[in-house]
Amino acid sequence: MTGKRHDAGDVDAKDVVSGNVVSGNVIGPVVQAHTIHGGVHFHSAGPPVMPMVTPVAAQGSAHADLFVGRAAQVEEVLARLDPDGEGRAVVVSAGMGGVGKTALARHTAALAVRREWFTGAALLVDLRGYDPDGRTVASHDVFAPLLRALDVEAEDIPENRAEQAAVYHRTLDRLGRKGRRVLLVLDNASSGDQVRDLLPRHAAHRALVTTRDRLSLPNGSTLVLKALPAAEARTLLERALRADLPDDPRVAESPRIADRLVTMCGALPLAVRIAAAILADEPDLPLTALVDELRMGASCGTARCRWPQRSTSPGDACSPAIPRRRGSPSYAR
Ligand SMILES: Nc1ncnc2c1ncn2[C@@H]1O[C@H](COP(=O)(O)OP(=O)(O)OP(=O)(O)O)[C@@H](O)[C@H]1O
Ligand SMILES: [Mg+2]
Repeated sequence: MTGKRHDAGDVDAKDVVSGNVVSGNVIGPVVQAHTIHGGVHFHSAGPPVMPMVTPVAAQGSAHADLFVGRAAQVEEVLARLDPDGEGRAVVVSAGMGGVGKTALARHTAALAVRREWFTGAALLVDLRGYDPDGRTVASHDVFAPLLRALDVEAEDIPENRAEQAAVYHRTLDRLGRKGRRVLLVLDNASSGDQVRDLLPRHAAHRALVTTRDRLSLPNGSTLVLKALPAAEARTLLERALRADLPDDPRVAESPRIADRLVTMCGALPLAVRIAAAILADEPDLPLTALVDELRMGASCGTARCRWPQRSTSPGDACSPAIPRRRGSPSYAR
């Protein structure tokens, strides 16, 4: 028996010896055993991850709404999601980290909601498939949160995961039969196993899955997302900067240098938004200075360079260094 006892209370010697009684509030793991030889070692798996299920809002915050370009892809995803269209039930949006899969999914889902295509519900689940700490969400952990989001009463949600799955699919079938269509955005899926059991079976519903991998899903069609075209990347740089500093003239005054900057960002939306956040943080920093810094960062590889070093995955390369140095930049998702 162990565990850190908060409010030690009174534990009788006889309880300890014969009854294995833990009293007071226990924080941490507890082991009950008869006789223990040797030590007991606890291996914590870290705090449990609660699956996040959020309704897709037709309108988001100004920053979340800052969506640029991708007209063809938006049309394509909408055509595939259109409940009256020819599209398949599952749309997979694939591409490298930071390329804009989640942004596109949120944007198109919000448009679909505005068109009142999904009157049953439109829900987004972060499956955390690429969580650096490995805290990915298993599909069976999502049934209960999804059922709650679909307005199923708590007493009708079973404890058992297999039964939850059955109730989940019955609920979706019932909504489908009533013509109340449901859209599920399954974000950050790193394997088919994470999503397969969650995919609606009734033809009225749609699922939009984002992944950095190639997933083969039943009734699915894949759209591969690449970096932005250069002109859209420059527009993103300017709009993201002006979201923070509405009158900032730097991009408009030096479009060719801005183009160099977004080229150095690989026209990757995440990198472009980091660049915009740096410029917003430093209103006196000329674009050329940032281009030079980037060039130096690409070649020097020292800690002096504030730009994250390039690696095989630009999504990984662009994320941690600047936030650590700069507090909470506004590019945050
Ligand atoms: N078309 C766009 N317009 C405006 N901002 C965008 C666009 N695409 C992506 N972004 C922004 O770029 C950043 C990275 O995009 P996003 O999170 O969608 O990438 P991702 O492909 O989902 O990456 P990951 O695989 O890491 O989840 C976010 O801040 C997002 O808001
Ligand atoms: Mg994403």
